[in-house]
Amino acid sequence: MLPLNVSEYEGLAESRLDHKAWDYMRGGSDDEVTLRANREAFVRIQLRPRVLVDVSHCDLSTTVLGTPVGMPILIAPMGYQCLATPEGECATARAAGAAKSLMVASTMATRTLEETAGVATGPLWFQLYVYKDRSISEQLVRRAEAAGYRALVLTVDLPRIGRRERDIRNGFGLPPHLHAANFVTHGSHEMPETEPGTSGLAAHTAAHFDESLTWEAVAWLKSITPLPVLLKGILTAEDAALAVQHGADGLIVSNHGGRQLDTVPASIEALPAVTAAVAGRVEVYVDGGIRRGTDVLKALALGARAVLVGRPVLWGLAVAGEAGARDVLELLRAELELALALAGRPTLASIDRSLVKLP
Ligand SMILES: Cc1cc2nc3c(=O)[nH]c(=O)nc-3n(C[C@H](O)[C@H](O)[C@H](O)COP(=O)(O)O)c2cc1C
Repeated sequence: MLPLNVSEYEGLAESRLDHKAWDYMRGGSDDEVTLRANREAFVRIQLRPRVLVDVSHCDLSTTVLGTPVGMPILIAPMGYQCLATPEGECATARAAGAAKSLMVASTMATRTLEETAGVATGPLWFQLYVYKDRSISEQLVRRAEAAGYRALVLTVDLPRIGRRERDIRNGFGLPPHLHAANFVTHGSHEMPETEPGTSGLAAHTAAHFDESLTWEAVAWLKSITPLPVLLKGILTAEDAALAVQHGADGLIVSNHGGRQLDTVPASIEALPAVTAAVAGRVEVYVDGGIRRGTDVLKALALGARAVLVGRPVLWGLAVAGEAGARDVLELLRAELELALALAGRPTLASIDRSLVKLP
């Protein structure tokens, strides 16, 4: 029987993945406090359903930065998806299109952004890391524009990589047949496995990522592209206000799936302060720990336009490639649709703050 929920997919994925790949995908930083918090915080938020509402037709469709999607569940950017299934990012792009979702492709992909766009049947955004040599990032922007990506997602919570001890212990790196596909022309695409005690990924980011990045980078990015720019990794009202001031077109409340600064709040806990600071001026998204339709409902009630899911898509890929990733998205869609009906909120517009009780 096919897995019934995301958690069953996770169990199956663990049994199928090489243990280094599993640790890379599943793991967080330091003591993984935030990684656990991302899940626990959802459990503590209660729903306040309304009854005797006509829920014979529930509509999940919406728009994200003006682009129509079939549901408010998008795919978070994740590197190295060929570790989960040979087709990697191409399988994810097809699954996203089939599920009427939207995929955010990562800078650190194992298929090029052009290959991914070439097979995509739905809308794409491109996630950007800024390199010490800014011309490398600028070329990525040009390529993303040419390939039809509709927005850029600038990840702002990774000036340096968090201490991911599982990867350090494993000497994590890419096996010889895989590389960071977007960088082949720059010669910085190799990220080989190393000795236990160091991580190839950590070495790569230390060598290439610009850790001197400031708010000036947002203006720079806006000046070189007509595409909308979202900032991913906002956790405070102060930074949300600055982001809007600096021209961000959207924000993603995120702690990088508990992989960066440990002991920061769960992203769902950080969301209300950010939506309050933004006050409707730009769209706000959230990711981290979303595993059930009710989690999506809670995020929407707290002001998110849509959510992004990360690891669940990798579990789907690891279990059954494109079909698995699509099934994970369809499971979440079905759970959200049922949750809307049982909460007496048949449309996304009918979801508001009164639907949740915070701890
Ligand atoms: C294996 C893996 C790789 C990731 N790679 C990236 C990346 O390249 N760029 C980025 O902005 N975020 C990356 N993230 C973070 C995700 O975009 C997202 O913030 C997080 O996974 C959401 O939490 P969830 O996995 O609990 O759904 C990665 C996360 C994982 C698990």
